[in-house]
Amino acid sequence: MNAEILKDSAWLGAGLILGTGGTFFLRELFVKNDPDSQDLKEELTEAQTRLDAKSREIKTLQDTMRSAVSPMDLAAALAGIVSIVTRYMEVDLVAFLLLDEASQELVTQPGAYGLEKEEQIYKISLLEENASSVRTFKTGKPFVAGDAQDDPGVITHYAKLWEIRSLIVVSVSKQGHSWGVMRVGSRKPYAFTQEHVELMSAIAEDAAIMIEMSVLNQQLVQDREQLRALSRMKDEFVSTVSHEFKTPLTTLAGFLGLMLEGEIGPVSEDQKRFMLMARNAVERLSNMVSDLLDISRLESGMKMEMKAFSLIPLISSVVESHKLEAVSAKKEIQLNSPKDLPEVFADPKWIAVVVENLMSNALKFSKSGGRVAISIFDKGDCVETIVEDDGIGISEEGLSHIFEKFYRAPNARELNILGTGLGLAISKKVLDLHGGRLWLESSLEKGTKAHFVIYSVNRYGGPGQQRTGKMQEA
Ligand SMILES: Nc1ncnc2c1ncn2[C@@H]1O[C@H](COP(=O)(O)OP(=O)(O)OP(=O)(O)O)[C@@H](O)[C@H]1O
Ligand SMILES: [Mg+2]
Repeated sequence: MNAEILKDSAWLGAGLILGTGGTFFLRELFVKNDPDSQDLKEELTEAQTRLDAKSREIKTLQDTMRSAVSPMDLAAALAGIVSIVTRYMEVDLVAFLLLDEASQELVTQPGAYGLEKEEQIYKISLLEENASSVRTFKTGKPFVAGDAQDDPGVITHYAKLWEIRSLIVVSVSKQGHSWGVMRVGSRKPYAFTQEHVELMSAIAEDAAIMIEMSVLNQQLVQDREQLRALSRMKDEFVSTVSHEFKTPLTTLAGFLGLMLEGEIGPVSEDQKRFMLMARNAVERLSNMVSDLLDISRLESGMKMEMKAFSLIPLISSVVESHKLEAVSAKKEIQLNSPKDLPEVFADPKWIAVVVENLMSNALKFSKSGGRVAISIFDKGDCVETIVEDDGIGISEEGLSHIFEKFYRAPNARELNILGTGLGLAISKKVLDLHGGRLWLESSLEKGTKAHFVIYSVNRYGGPGQQRTGKMQEA
């Protein structure tokens, strides 16, 4: 037994695959059976050292490739691999040929090394079975030529053109899916061993993973673009339809009002009852339309018109507007505000929308005889408002969806309490645009506490100053 045997490519390949453990096994086997074992032992040890060095080399090369090459831009990734291979190995040609599904051709990818300009666009049809690239692509088996200028397995015309003598073609494939091939050539004849084939195969496998990642990434980018376009279309649609609804609804409400007041002529009690029902329905529709318009304006990044103002009169007026409704539903509203409260710095129109939404929820979801309390707290840099009720409450699961558009908790639906499920989504968006916070605490059948926090003028060293940083927990 001679160590030359290990130079035989098949052995070396097996050795590479088996790694250190494998050669140790071989050495033990031969040493035990050969009486003249000392020479053999040395040769095998030497072979093992070579193999270890080779595996380290492969690992270093793969690590370099993985850290230096980003799969997000496929052309750059392949060019990166080409440049690493040419830097680490003495080769004169490195090119990736990937399948073009439409033309069923293997097409040279940008960044190939060692090709003249016009050869950079070299492509080959999958029908050309005599081309080594096509065969490797179809079978997945590597192809090696010691002298491509004189090898029946190579189209010598191209080998001559590229002045290539040694040639390796390996498949760029992963889990049975073949993307193409990698060709590596040298001007020296018989320059490649099985080690090179192993190394190139490992690199081609990494390239296949990168190609797959890049294809998935492209797909993701496309899907995201499509979703964005759809979402824009939906927003435009909602906004246009809501605008179109506004005018006829105002007309309907106006005429119903005139009829109810008897301006058009005498109205019987029955007619009045039906007209009142119609007016309620129109009012509900109008509210829904203005909610839809609000959310579409807020989502399209509407600018808040910030100014310093006092929150107490704003909240008091919302409370006043609900007094009648509360009395007729036998509910009590309590307003607790401190004597001195710094002005807040916010958009009063949108903060009024938030207070209105929270108040209407507290009243809507509390039971007859219940109590709704609004309390305002000075927190220095900010002002916190809590709207509390002792109503039906929200489950833990419900709380996790509460800010989603059109979400209505199961208990609200079961009790047929009317609503579109937009009030909290709108309020959350408004608070986000203020850099403020909105959150709910609740437990079923016990009640709900809705908190919102906005900045006070203290934060700015006076009204009109610009805010910096993000709001901390209140
Ligand atoms: N105070 C509350 N008590 C109990 N459940 C509440 C309360 N506030 C909100 N919810 C639950 O959260 C859901 C979403 O509230 P949101 O204000 O967004 O919608 P809505 O009141 O149903 O309809 P809209 O406000 O658009 O008229 C409600 O349907 C209800 O299930
Ligand atoms: Mg609501």
